[in-house]
Amino acid sequence: MDRPPLRTYGRIKTRTLKPRQAVLIDELLPRLGVPDGPFDPRALMPEAAEVWLEIGFGGGEHLAAQAARRPDVLMIGVEPFLNGVASALRHIDDGKLANVRIVQGDARDIVGRLPDSSLDRVFILFPDPWPKTRHHKRRLIQPDFIADLARASRPGARLGFATDWRDYAAWTLERMVASPDWAWTAQDPSDWRAPPADHVTTRYEQKALGDTAPIFLNFIRL
Ligand SMILES: C[S@@+](CC[C@H](N)C(=O)[O-])C[C@H]1O[C@@H](n2cnc3c(N)ncnc32)[C@H](O)[C@@H]1O
Repeated sequence: MDRPPLRTYGRIKTRTLKPRQAVLIDELLPRLGVPDGPFDPRALMPEAAEVWLEIGFGGGEHLAAQAARRPDVLMIGVEPFLNGVASALRHIDDGKLANVRIVQGDARDIVGRLPDSSLDRVFILFPDPWPKTRHHKRRLIQPDFIADLARASRPGARLGFATDWRDYAAWTLERMVASPDWAWTAQDPSDWRAPPADHVTTRYEQKALGDTAPIFLNFIRL
C-alpha cells in the first residue's frame, strides 16, 4: 500500500473561527469548490482567458488582489490551513470576486487531478521553509512535484516562486534547473532581487522571518 506523502505544512487550524468566518466556511466555501476527482478547470469558467493556481495562499491577500486585478482569469487557490481559507473567503466576499475557486487541501493532490497543460500560471510564494536539514524532505519543492506541475502546465506557462530563506532558494533553483521541463528566466541579479511587476506583497513576506531579503525565482514551462 502507498504511504501518504509527507506533510509539507504545519497546523491546519489555530484560532477558533470568528462568527462571520464560520458562516463563510459553511456557506461560501462549498460554492467555490472544485469537483471531486479529476477535473478540468476550464469547465469551471469557460470564458476565462487563463487559469492561474496559487499554492499555499496563506491569508489570501495575494490571491484576492490578483483575482480582482484580472477578472478574466480563473484563479484557483489551494491551502490546507483553515484560518487562512477563512481569511481568503472574507477577501473574496468583500471584493465580490466571481473568478476564484478555493480548495482547502494539499496542492499535490489538486495538481494530480488536473489535466495536462491546463495551467497558465502558478504561484508558490513563501512556502514553509523547513530550515532544519532533517525536515528538508517536507519541503514542497521536490522533483516529483515539479514534474507533475510541469505536466499540468502548458508550454510557456509561468511559475513564480519566492522565499526569504537563502537555502530554500538554492534548493529550488537546483531542482528546477535539473528538470527538463522548466527554464529559469533570470538574465541578471535584479531578476531575482526584484518582485515581478504585478507582485502583491504577502503577509508572510511582510513578517521577514527568513535569513535574506526576498528572492523571486521565475520559470517558464518549456
Ligand atoms: C509560510 S506560509 C506562506 C503563506 C502565503 N503564501 C504568504 O506568503 O503569506 C506557507 C503556506 O503554505 C501552505 N502549504 C504548505 N504545504 C502546502 C501544500 N502541500 N499545499 C498547499 N498549501 C500548502 C501552508 O499551510 C502555509 O499557509
